[in-house]
Amino acid sequence: MRPIHLAPSILSADFARLAAHVEEALDAGADFIHVDVMDGHFVPNITIGPLIVEAVRPVADRRGAVVDVHLMIERPERYLADFARAGADILTVHVETCPHLHRTVQAIRELGVRPGVTLNPATSLTTLDEILPYVDLVLIMSVNPGFGGQSYIPTSTAKIARLRAMLDAIGSTAELEVDGGIKPGNAAEVVAAGATVLVAGSAIFGGALSVAENVAAFQAALT
Ligand code: DX5
Ligand code: ZN
Repeated sequence: MRPIHLAPSILSADFARLAAHVEEALDAGADFIHVDVMDGHFVPNITIGPLIVEAVRPVADRRGAVVDVHLMIERPERYLADFARAGADILTVHVETCPHLHRTVQAIRELGVRPGVTLNPATSLTTLDEILPYVDLVLIMSVNPGFGGQSYIPTSTAKIARLRAMLDAIGSTAELEVDGGIKPGNAAEVVAAGATVLVAGSAIFGGALSVAENVAAFQAALT
C-alpha cells in the first residue's frame, strides 16, 4: 500500500484567517498544502503569488507539511526562483506552458525543489513519455484549471489508471496527484486507480461542516 496524502487547496480557504484555516486542516490529518497560482493568461482567473507561499511556509513547518505549488501561469520559468525562495517544496508546471519542459524541470531541481508536471483534461498522457523519469510528481487535472468548485470529469479515473501503469512500468516512485472536484464520494475511486495525493479545495474549506469534519470525511472514505 502506498501512503495517501490529502492536499487541501487554499484557494477555497478564508484568506482573512489563512493560517488558522490551514492549521485546522493539518491538525485533522492533511499533510500537504496545495497552492494554486493563476495568472489571468494561461487560465482566466488571477489568484496568488510567492507572498502567500511565504506566509504558509511557517505553518507547514510547524506541522511537518509539504508546500505543494501548482503553477497555472504562462512561461513559469520566469518565477521558479521566486517560488523556491518563498519556500515551495514542490513546483508543478503545466506541460501546455513549457515548450522546453526538460529544461524547466531541471531548473526546478537545481533550485533544490521537487519538480512536478501536470496536464489539462484534454492533454494526452503521451506528452509525458520523455519527461516521466525526471519528475517527482505528476498531477492529473480532473477539471479544467482556473476555478475551485467544479465537477470531477469522470474519464479522469481511466487516465489516472493509465498513468499509474506508465509510472510502474519505469519503476517511478513519483507521486500521482489528482486535482479538481475531489470529494469524499470519489476519493476511494481515484485512489483505487492509483492516485497518491488528493487535492481538495471546496470539499475541505467549503460547505456547512468544519474543516476538521471535512478532513475526517475523507479519512473515513479511504479506510
Ligand atoms: C483548479 C485548481 C484546484 C482547485 C480545486 O484550477 O487547480 O486546485 O482549487 O478545487 P476543488 O477541490 O473545489 O475542485
Ligand atoms: Zn491545483
